[in-house]
Amino acid sequence: MRKPIIVANWKMFKTRDEALFFILKVSDEVPLIKDVDSVICAQAPLMRCLIKRQGDNLRIGAQNMHFADEGAFTGEVSGPMLKSYNVDYVIIGHSERRAMFYETDDIVNKKILAAIRNDIIPVVCIGEQLKERENGLTNTILHNQIVKGFAGIEGKDMIKIIIAYEPIWAIGTGKTATADIADETCGYIRKMVGDIFGNLVADAVRIQYGGSVNPNNVDELLSKPNIDGVLIGGASLNPDHFIYMTNAAMKRVK
Ligand code: PGA
Repeated sequence: MRKPIIVANWKMFKTRDEALFFILKVSDEVPLIKDVDSVICAQAPLMRCLIKRQGDNLRIGAQNMHFADEGAFTGEVSGPMLKSYNVDYVIIGHSERRAMFYETDDIVNKKILAAIRNDIIPVVCIGEQLKERENGLTNTILHNQIVKGFAGIEGKDMIKIIIAYEPIWAIGTGKTATADIADETCGYIRKMVGDIFGNLVADAVRIQYGGSVNPNNVDELLSKPNIDGVLIGGASLNPDHFIYMTNAAMKRVK
């Protein structure tokens, strides 16, 4: 049984006071880490105030990191910096970074390797555009992203990685992939991981769905066999919704 993982992607939202209000409200209401991994991925300036209050049921993640451990890269954050603040997770290759900050599969690959080197769990986003799905290219696109993104990664590290399947047409649009489409595509991703890394790795790796997840659709999404968790943007900014969605994962545990 794969442990469910619920990740909030706060994107560029929340000030320190808003982040504090949120974590104080949710920290005792989300399930214990032994049952569900509940992670808040926030911006770097918020890390310290969140980590101090993560308690027994929350973990804090970053939304990006550089692939170099140090260097003259003005404005960037490194793996060792995140680790020194006990940051346990980092989102890598989010479609907004691929589209707006020119992140290629090669850069994504280097960042995944850097996260692993620094003992930070990467939440790696992959997904197709609407046109690509309409033209029947979804599996080809995902296959390319997986082959290039996970090049050079060993099976022992692959099982720690979280894969987030986020169809780009469903992000921030209110258009969720139906639970069946999401499950089928996550199943395809699992099969591809199996073809490259073997069935033991494919059985262990956790695959999330992301894209307009909210309290109304989370239960159905999490009821699907290939969906081990969700990556939530907009709806994760509301503490009551976050509490609901992390607790929805408990139904998968029982
Ligand atoms: P959304 O974002 O839930 O607002 O669609 C998801 C994401 O971008 O990770």
